[in-house]
Order: sequence, then structure tokens, then C-alpha cells
Amino acid sequence: ATERTLSIIKPDAVAKNAIGEIIARFEKAGLKVVAAKMLHLDNDKAGGFYAEHKERPFFNDLVGFMTSGPVVVQVLEGENAIAKNRELMGATNPKDAEPGTIRADFAETIDANAVHGSDSAESAEREISYFFGNDEICPR
Ligand code: CMP
Repeated sequence: ATERTLSIIKPDAVAKNAIGEIIARFEKAGLKVVAAKMLHLDNDKAGGFYAEHKERPFFNDLVGFMTSGPVVVQVLEGENAIAKNRELMGATNPKDAEPGTIRADFAETIDANAVHGSDSAESAEREISYFFGNDEICPR
């Protein structure tokens, strides 16, 4: 089925000037960008996004990292977009990521791991509406 998923190009990948190369991977895999913007998140916006991790030991570092520089948030649309994006990203820890995946190629650590992608249909819906109003999404 056609799905939508939320993708974030994280501060490490933006700092590496890899925005274009990462978006090219999505597009070459058949995913379409139907919304996109660059943001510099503050603690509230990053903490709210990762609210499900609030009790995890890495939460403060995660929020600190996600507010350390600008990010690019996008809505990707396509056939099985949620799973396809996760395949393109590779494992959360770049050390475990398959060769040729975004995290294998652009990330070194589990904290600075280049990209985020929604992990289920439920999180995709929440995460997309966390960043985008309906009038900011352009069906195509
Ligand atoms: P992301 O998919 O954005 O979701 C939560 C982020 O927390 C994850 O990517 C990692 O960058 C970061 N993180 C740091 N430590 C861990 C950990 N032990 N397990 C999962 N995620 C972690």
C-alpha cells in the first residue's frame, strides 16, 4: 500500500553536507518527498518528539544532540514507505548497519546516526503531524 513516513536528516549529516546525497537515496528507491523543511529544534520540540524515550539513559544526550544543529524533516511517500525507509537507513547502530545503507555510509555512532525514520504506521502518523500541518504536505 502507499504509505507516508517521517524522515529526519540529523545534525551530523547536515553538518557533513550530505542532505542531497541522502535525499537522492530516497528518490532513487522510489520514495517521493511530499513535504520538507529545515529546523533548528529546541529542547521542548526535540524532547516531545522523543517522548517515548524519556526514561531511557540516553534521553538527555539524544535531546542534546538533536538540538546541536539544524535538521531536515521530510515526509516520504511511496509503496511500503515505512519499511523501505528503514531498509535504506540500516540498523540504528551504524556498526550493525548493512553495507550500502545510509547509516553505514554516513554515520559512526549510535548517537550521531545520520537519520531517523518512523518505525510503524502509528508512529508515522504521530511524527508527521508533530512537524507538519496538512497544508504543508503536497500530494503528488
Ligand atoms: P532514532 O531512530 O532517532 O531514535 C532514538 C535515537 O536514540 C536513536 O535513533 C539513536 O540515535 C539514539 N540512541 C542512543 N542510544 C540508543 C540506544 N541504546 N538504543 C536506541 N537508540 C539509541
